[in-house]
Amino acid sequence: MSQRTLVLLKPDAVARGLIGEIVGRVERKAGWRIVAMELRTLDRATLETHYAEHVGRPFYEPLLDFMASGPSVALVVEGERVIEGLRALAGPTDPIAAAPGSIRGDFGTIVRENLIHASDSEESADRELKIFFPGLV
Ligand code: PPS
Repeated sequence: MSQRTLVLLKPDAVARGLIGEIVGRVERKAGWRIVAMELRTLDRATLETHYAEHVGRPFYEPLLDFMASGPSVALVVEGERVIEGLRALAGPTDPIAAAPGSIRGDFGTIVRENLIHASDSEESADRELKIFFPGLV
């Protein structure tokens, strides 16, 4: 089943010069296509909408501050079971627990600066794609 997922390369990934490395891994996966891509510093309103489910969690404010601290790259990736695949490519939230070979396992240091966001379900992907790429057909 072909799907679309939202991927964010977080400000740490951009600041560390890892855009090419991470996008290259996505491009090398057979059957996946990048159908939209944009570099911009995310504003507070966008981040509040995107992370609404985490309001009140201890990491919420530090996460928003970090995500607004510099430019991110937003991408839409399309392919068979790409939602599950991108989550696997990213690795678990905590880079310490992430296996070598995954993006967080290879480059991650601390939980907050874990380089990449990828939608966790079809429902999340639908919601997040509308936030970041409302005009995409
Ligand atoms: S949960 O409980 O499974 O919904 O949470 P999780 O998916 O692990 O994390 C949700 C997002 O919050 C980020 N996160 C943090 N940011 C900053 N500091 C701390 N300590 C922290 N813990 C979790 C985590 O990276 C997730 O962000 P996204 O952008 O979805 O990857």
